[in-house]
Amino acid sequence: MKKYVVVGVGGRSRMFLDALLERFVDSSKLAAICDKNQGRIELVIKEYASKCPGLVGYSDEQFDKMLKEHNPDTVIVCTKDSEHDNYICRSLEAGCDVITEKPMTTDEVKCQRIVDTAKKTGKNVRVTFNYRYAPSRTQIKDLLMSGVIGKVLSIDFQWCLDTNHGTDYFRRWHRNKVNSGGLMVHKATHHFDLVNWWLSSTPSTVFAEGDRVFYNSRQAKCYGLEEHAERCHNCQVSDKCNFYLDMSAHESIKNLYLDCEEYDGYLRDKCVFSDEIDIEDTMNVIVRYKSGTILSYSLNAFTSWEGYRVVFNGTKGRLEQECHESSYINSGGKVEGAFEAEGSTIKVYPHFKTPYEVEMWTGEGSHGGGDVIMLKEIFDNQQDDKYLRAADYVQGAYSILVGIAANKSMATGKKIRVDDIVSGLSEPKFPAMPDGTESIEYVKDATRSCGGVLMEANIPLKIDAPE
Ligand SMILES: NC(=O)c1ccc[n+]([C@@H]2O[C@H](COP(=O)([O-])OP(=O)(O)OC[C@H]3O[C@@H](n4cnc5c(N)ncnc54)[C@H](O)[C@@H]3O)[C@@H](O)[C@H]2O)c1
Repeated sequence: MKKYVVVGVGGRSRMFLDALLERFVDSSKLAAICDKNQGRIELVIKEYASKCPGLVGYSDEQFDKMLKEHNPDTVIVCTKDSEHDNYICRSLEAGCDVITEKPMTTDEVKCQRIVDTAKKTGKNVRVTFNYRYAPSRTQIKDLLMSGVIGKVLSIDFQWCLDTNHGTDYFRRWHRNKVNSGGLMVHKATHHFDLVNWWLSSTPSTVFAEGDRVFYNSRQAKCYGLEEHAERCHNCQVSDKCNFYLDMSAHESIKNLYLDCEEYDGYLRDKCVFSDEIDIEDTMNVIVRYKSGTILSYSLNAFTSWEGYRVVFNGTKGRLEQECHESSYINSGGKVEGAFEAEGSTIKVYPHFKTPYEVEMWTGEGSHGGGDVIMLKEIFDNQQDDKYLRAADYVQGAYSILVGIAANKSMATGKKIRVDDIVSGLSEPKFPAMPDGTESIEYVKDATRSCGGVLMEANIPLKIDAPE
């Protein structure tokens, strides 16, 4: 039986609390919780009273006291991003393992501190990259490992956050880089981690351009919203604003944030057109990998649909995935990031052969079904994963380092070398991939040798979903 404590009991912590107090009660015990906001501590104690009678809450200032009194095996870190390093390092120094939410941290100084502390203490840091576990994204890894398109030489990756989910980052603490590192770190950590893991490689150089082109006063003026207030609550132009969030209309948002404002003054519904925002809403990044692969990535946070397109060009062909996701806002009560079958496809275009569509692996629940599979691996301590999806601090670092380097590139106009900003990182343990030296059989097909092939037919290639 492993003993856990959780620090940061906002929206995301619920996934871990439910896992500890429902699905994995036989192997896990929740000993205590900690948060800066006393209201959210009391809310958790009340909501989980029947499943965890006598649960004790500690303030942020009592964190070390909590560790001393409960001596947990593992600390689960779910605070806002810029506080992760503080709790990760203190937990490691106290002899605990850590499970941290993404992004591992927000800048290179904090990242270096985590790397050094993890190496010094020898304790484990696990970064919960749930996106890897969504079956349809694991399937991409499976297809790339199978060698179906050979070695990946280049990638085009576009991520779209829509005017519901994407907008929500501009209301909350995420809207300032000091809290989140901007979307290049906070959000794109998922995407850069996917690319690192899909390729089984690490980034070498990064160049980026970005700006805040939509969530600004010019756009507010176009909508006739110049008279907007500091926040949505009691805003005089809310009746003509498509971005209006009525916190009292969502029970969990009301309980977690509106009713807890008196404790720390945090407002979850700040105006998305405010001049206080300093994160970008459109970003373009070029990354060169140590494998030689070149990634072209874009992130836009004001699109009309939610999801992504990713294309891999390999020595033997091309693999394309398009995924449409359900639109949501964090803690809004809907399943977060569920895949929509409509518009979601995987296609393989082998060189000189007939292209085909692959039936997509599916999963249940939030983040494309990734959360449920990842939790089972963590709390049942499963260790026989051929995709090596469990990420440690090294992999946590390499994903944020792309975003941190992108922030530096946007600020300086220069190309940034990742190894220049954090030192002491080993190469991660990734599955072996095709290396481009495999021999390729000659296919005699004059029509396909000339290019310009159309999809002739869908040939389903059924592969069973992993456990
Ligand atoms: N993997 C995913 O898909 C996913 C999804 C959502 C959120 N997250 C991550 O989870 C973390 C929490 O996000 P959230 O949506 O729950 O945010 P949230 O604002 O709902 O909760 C953050 C909590 O941290 C607390 N906190 C802030 N500063 C603190 C401090 N110094 N000491 C102690 N507590 C402090 C706040 O009071 C709040 O209760 C973030 O790092 C976020 O990136 C991950």
